[in-house]
Amino acid sequence: MLLMIHNQKGGVGKTTTAANLGAALLRDGHARRVTLVDLDPQMHLTAMLGPVGAAPVLTVKDWLAGHTDAALPVDGEPGLSLVAGTPDLPPTLPDALPTPERGEWRVIDTAPGWSPLVSAMAARADLVLCPTEPDFLGLSGVNRLLSRLDAAGVARDRVRLLLCRYSPRLALHAEVRARLAERFGGPMLLPVEIRTSVRLAEAPGRGRTIFGHAPRSSGSADHCALARALAQGLPPEQHWHVA
Ligand SMILES: Nc1ncnc2c1ncn2[C@@H]1O[C@H](COP(=O)(O)OP(=O)(O)OP(=O)(O)O)[C@@H](O)[C@H]1O
Ligand SMILES: [Mg+2]
Repeated sequence: MLLMIHNQKGGVGKTTTAANLGAALLRDGHARRVTLVDLDPQMHLTAMLGPVGAAPVLTVKDWLAGHTDAALPVDGEPGLSLVAGTPDLPPTLPDALPTPERGEWRVIDTAPGWSPLVSAMAARADLVLCPTEPDFLGLSGVNRLLSRLDAAGVARDRVRLLLCRYSPRLALHAEVRARLAERFGGPMLLPVEIRTSVRLAEAPGRGRTIFGHAPRSSGSADHCALARALAQGLPPEQHWHVA
């Protein structure tokens, strides 16, 4: 399963979702192995979960060229590995990506802004997950994002919208959810939200996922609910169940 996380808007929760969804997929047995791929020259995912000290020798550039040993285990998260980012990304993708293992999910964190590289990865992805902020600028950004995904040849049934930094008590957030549901109901708008949580904002500074930092927080419950919603939406032949 190749899942790309993208929104052209910056700071909406892409990297937070990539790291914590990856860990949640493993925790609840939806995946046997998860490879997080940092396809953002800002390298935030690498800063969050990458090895401390010396920079990794192999990066996503090598991984795209077929070096599967560029995926390094993430401390404290069995089954989770990370392909480190580089400021020097290639302009587009090679013809073939490394072959995934059975039961492996690849979660690709992308940079904000649309680019030929993002467009090429979107075209290859089984699912494109779009974290979105629950305000009116976020709403108008969704229209632009969907047009771009259409142009990249991504069918609408491969797109999922996820509301992040959601506050259940705010009428504005409920209103934005209702508008999105009216326009893009069905499977596209996921039936879960990632609530605003200071624990989620703290975790990167500790070099941990939310499960390593605050396993009983709302952020950990929300990412487990997200993993379940994504896995349940897949056709049966793509399900993986840990025995
Ligand atoms: N649900 C949340 N509650 C509280 N803080 C959050 C939440 N989601 C993300 N944050 C914080 O918001 C900031 C931006 O999040 P993140 O880096 O995940 O966004 P991004 O979309 O990946 O940004 P960029 O476009 O720069 O790559 C980070 O400091 C993160 O810790
Ligand atoms: Mg990011």
